[in-house]
Amino acid sequence: MALSLQSLWIPFITLLVTRSLAEAATFTHSRAAYYPNSDEKGTEVGACGFGSFGATINGGDVSAASELYRDGVGCGACYQVRCTNSNYCSDKGVTVVITDSGSGPSTDFILSRRAFGKMAQTTDAAASLLALGVVDVEYRRVSCNYPNKNITIKIDENSNYPHYLAFVLWYQQGDKDITAVQLCETQNFGCKLLDRSYGAVWTTTSPPSGPLSLRMLLSGEDGYESWIVPVNNIPENWTGGNTYDTGLQINV
Ligand SMILES: *[C@@H]1O[C@H](CO)[C@@H](O)[C@H](O)[C@H]1NC(C)=O
Ligand SMILES: *[C@@H]1O[C@H](CO)[C@@H](O)[C@H](O)[C@H]1NC(C)=O
Repeated sequence: MALSLQSLWIPFITLLVTRSLAEAATFTHSRAAYYPNSDEKGTEVGACGFGSFGATINGGDVSAASELYRDGVGCGACYQVRCTNSNYCSDKGVTVVITDSGSGPSTDFILSRRAFGKMAQTTDAAASLLALGVVDVEYRRVSCNYPNKNITIKIDENSNYPHYLAFVLWYQQGDKDITAVQLCETQNFGCKLLDRSYGAVWTTTSPPSGPLSLRMLLSGEDGYESWIVPVNNIPENWTGGNTYDTGLQINV
């Protein structure tokens, strides 16, 4: 009896393993260009509204996306992008974070110059790739990884305490999207759903008062949805330009 059960299990397990390998290997074909005037860093002025984070995030390996920008939902998502010319391109390619919206000639990605060059096998190959300007690539969504960082709330400089609150979330790990954000009072537990004003920027006029508990709805492409609640509250006296550690990170 035990033997026949085992023989049933083996093909089942093999199927599971094969399937997860197949899923992990699914790349989509596209094309990528690079920002002609970009320096070695990312950009502080991307459509996602990440501010100074956008320049330094992921060591400057960032990208603008067209369809994948998804009206701002795609901001902060990570993609492995590799070019397909076997003379120049490495298997690994580069992992970029979406920080901007933009499209070029049939491209899904406009990479920072630095990230574009990183798809190459060697420095010489990078020069050849850069000379091409636009290349065939394949890409897949991957988890973002920010070692030793918690999800951090950056209050936008344009916020006006206590009437108008705008912020972005930095350092969200994983491969899920934040599709809704609520602010809840810690005493009366009244909650307010925020608006995505553009990119990754969440705003509200007349925010609730007192220390504020943030709730974020994580959504996956597979239909997964879950609200996550940070350990730390936004302090009562929140101030434009400040950052606050949520004490929370998504395990990857
Ligand atoms: C906000 O309040 C905390 C104590 O709750 C205090 O340490 C901090 O200095 C205050 N910040 C501002 C900008 O007033
Ligand atoms: C992240 O938050 C935890 C509390 O949940 C804290 O112990 C830890 O120091 C924080 N990490 C960083 C890098 O701030």
